[in-house]
Amino acid sequence: MRPNLLCPVNAKLCMATFKTQVVSETENGAVSLAVQHLAAGNLVAIPTETVYGLAADATEYAAVQQIYKAKGRPSFNPLICHVADVAMAKKIVTVSALASRLMEIYWPGPLTLVLPARPDSPIAAPVSAGLDTLAVRCPNKGITREIIRKLEKPIAAPSANPSGKLSPTSAADVLAGLDGKLPLIIDAGDAPEGIESTIIGVKNDKLYLLRPGTITADEIAERLGQPVLDRNEDEISAPGQLLSHYAPEASVRLNATEKRDGELLIGFGDIKGDISLSASGDLSEAAHNLFKTIRNADKTSTRIAVAPVPNEGIGIAINDRLKRAAAPRKDA
Ligand code: TXA
Ligand code: MG
Repeated sequence: MRPNLLCPVNAKLCMATFKTQVVSETENGAVSLAVQHLAAGNLVAIPTETVYGLAADATEYAAVQQIYKAKGRPSFNPLICHVADVAMAKKIVTVSALASRLMEIYWPGPLTLVLPARPDSPIAAPVSAGLDTLAVRCPNKGITREIIRKLEKPIAAPSANPSGKLSPTSAADVLAGLDGKLPLIIDAGDAPEGIESTIIGVKNDKLYLLRPGTITADEIAERLGQPVLDRNEDEISAPGQLLSHYAPEASVRLNATEKRDGELLIGFGDIKGDISLSASGDLSEAAHNLFKTIRNADKTSTRIAVAPVPNEGIGIAINDRLKRAAAPRKDA
């Protein structure tokens, strides 16, 4: 297969309109096609175990700039560097003993670590948006690690959605939000976890929760035998934690125990609703279904109500996303 570009020159030089190609991860040549595009400075949507990412060669300034442009992402909001293994992470960040233990336990997997950037890091400046730290993650998705390994460079990849909108859990979701803004989407079906990685900041041998996810702060604290602190305790920077995020077109009402006129009710457990995050009250299942269910609800109703989800374990990450989905919008 050959890259299917409408832009006649290297995409570093122009923000082309692409015919976006969707290629299954099982198709022969999918990995080399993705690597070819990334090496040419183009964007590629990649599957991960959490949500789909919008990837570029993290060492190429112009390629990384395209991510911000395609998403309409504010330039102050840094990107996660995805690596193939711990050795690749060590080339871009300083890995303390504590960070190293976290990598041993949870990588590959849905845990992002914010660590000091190495002074000799080859990562392009816009990735860290001016901070002296970098977020690193090793995704638990074989094809994506293979792409990174073959590129021989980390890839910068935020979730593959227009800024402020719901994260994509399928290739179709990526296409719906970014069609024409990138040449290639690698399709690996439904993302298994369904919500983005847990983000932990490691600073002066302390751990800080920057974003809750399916690996919970309590679990990490127990495994490491030390607390995971609130990021506000030491004013740890988390520029991406904006109040309005994950916004569907519809309005969102939380903690709804019954449906009001004109609403579509998303249920959980005993509250059945029109559609349920998990009829059995399973929080992992609810996380897997969260963005997908809100997307579907958004297609059929202008008013969405959501049943209460217990604020414990993975429920903390689900409620974090729901709170942002329901927050007043910038343009409202
Ligand atoms: O599961 C995930 O993490 C997905 C997949 C694609 O890997 N990625 C993802 O990226 O959710 P994004 O850009 O949508 O969210 C990354 C978050 C943002 O809130 C950003 O502000 C934060 O990570 N972040 C990145 N670098 C940081 C840094 N150096 N310090 C603090 N926060 C950082
Ligand atoms: Mg995102």
